[in-house]
Amino acid sequence: MSDPANPAASPSNPSNPSKLIFAPTGGSTDPSKAIQYAQGTLKLTDLSPSPLTQFHAWFAAAQAANVYQPETVTLATASLPDGHVSARVVFMKELDARGFVVYSNWDTSRKARDVRGNPRAALTFWWREVERQVRVEGIVERLTDAESQVYFDTRIRGSRIGAWASAQSSVLQGREELEERVKGVEKKFEGQDKIPVPPFWGGLRVVPEVVEFWQGRESRLHDRFRYMREGKEGAWKIERLSP
Ligand SMILES: Cc1cc2nc3c(=O)[nH]c(=O)nc-3n(C[C@H](O)[C@H](O)[C@H](O)COP(=O)(O)O)c2cc1C
Repeated sequence: MSDPANPAASPSNPSNPSKLIFAPTGGSTDPSKAIQYAQGTLKLTDLSPSPLTQFHAWFAAAQAANVYQPETVTLATASLPDGHVSARVVFMKELDARGFVVYSNWDTSRKARDVRGNPRAALTFWWREVERQVRVEGIVERLTDAESQVYFDTRIRGSRIGAWASAQSSVLQGREELEERVKGVEKKFEGQDKIPVPPFWGGLRVVPEVVEFWQGRESRLHDRFRYMREGKEGAWKIERLSP
């Protein structure tokens, strides 16, 4: 029986109610019913020689499977020299022959601070509907203002104003402070259709050094393949990893 005073204490763990969550299995209270991944398999012969081409194919498959916003990705960065790691969800807005591009504030945000001192990042995609994960690790580089402007122009006006108005991740005294800043920016660009991309905002490309493709399998015996560069600009080596 579950404890009505502590609804999170699961019946599978009556002896230790101090664990607010214990072995959740996706809705079921029976650990033997843990969700199994069985939608697909992955073999070396399925893979493209280039991880970017492979990613493109998997992204298209995720779209075809109606994955909700498959561009949603966790971006992890780390500050030096203290080694503190931070991660947040962002949108991958572009994939090109060099890598994965995300857009953000590169002045006040935590990720901005991290990559200034340590130009490396990791991206993790999880596409539940196809039971696939992709992990990317690499070096980051800023896009030019001209490149960022192309994407900036596609954003609705409110989002373009917002990029100017928000000193992302700085402390606000209240919502009004942000709204005042928005008003100020609206006034500045009044009657102006074309808004320049803020110099502190734009694209960041993660140029991959390591990319892993993960396909869920039954009993957690998943298929995993890791691409690594042989030398700096060399061919990609592909290895199967133990789950
Ligand atoms: C679904 C989703 C998408 C997001 N997309 C972006 C994005 O593309 N760019 C961005 O700067 N923040 C995005 N955010 C907000 C970030 O998660 C985060 O709050 C912000 O970038 C500040 O993080 P930082 O101070 O760690 O750099 C998104 C959040 C969510 C939940």
